[in-house]
Amino acid sequence: MSLFRPQLWQIPEISPEHMQNLPALVQNLEQRLVEIARRFPQAVFASSLAAEDMVITDALCRLKLPVRIITLNTGKLNPETEALIAATQKQYGIALEVYRPQPEAAAAFEQQFGTSAIYESVENRRQCCHIRKIEPLNRALSQAPAWLTGQRRSQSATRSELAFEEHDGSRNIAKFNPIFDWEEHDVWAYAQTYNIPLNDLYRQGYPSIGCEPCTRPVKLGEDIRAGRWWWENKDSKECGLHK
Ligand code: ADX
Ligand code: SF4
Repeated sequence: MSLFRPQLWQIPEISPEHMQNLPALVQNLEQRLVEIARRFPQAVFASSLAAEDMVITDALCRLKLPVRIITLNTGKLNPETEALIAATQKQYGIALEVYRPQPEAAAAFEQQFGTSAIYESVENRRQCCHIRKIEPLNRALSQAPAWLTGQRRSQSATRSELAFEEHDGSRNIAKFNPIFDWEEHDVWAYAQTYNIPLNDLYRQGYPSIGCEPCTRPVKLGEDIRAGRWWWENKDSKECGLHK
């Protein structure tokens, strides 16, 4: 039996140069958030509690902007992610609005197809994402004139064209990506400087975190989204939240 264990991804080390860039980035982020809140006082921020989303949460709370913060509890989150919902509420003194799937739809899917169906076809997996993520997000955004995400361009090739402001054609509302131009090290420089609460899974080799059955740690040097829906090919690896 081999005792070789591949080294897992680790939270990046932050250099002094990265730290030097941070104040300008933060000032820019704050201006972006103020602009969104001024134009859309009823805007909704969808937070998955990823480090990116904790950066935006931290900035919104420091600025006391009236943006609602919602999270989708799919019912398939890791305990570490569930724990972060409570830790975030405590640290910032806010109430996150938690949206869950319709229990009948989630149960019917599992009764009909079983809990392993998501690994058997992209269609099944997308159906699960529809029930557990997209329908709850649609409910959360039903009255919203605009929403915010924590997506970044450098997270994946499919996000390379992201802009600060977009139009969400499927909901006919504005969509903002306030840290679309941040790099991974910018997120970690912010996390370190502002001491934001973080998902413990980052310390266990997970650079990108989704639902428990569909996320695993990645090896050092692998793509940061390699652990998301790892059994599928690259083209299908989005859950449909950002179509
Ligand atoms: S996904 O499409 O692959 O699942 P990813 O995990 O990269 O998305 O997250 C990108 C952005 O989508 C997050 O910054 C957040 O705005 C939104 N998002 C993803 N998952 C959730 C969730 N469970 N709750 C709320 N927002 C989410
Ligand atoms: Fe279901 Fe996996 Fe999609 Fe979560 S990420 S909703 S468990 S298919």
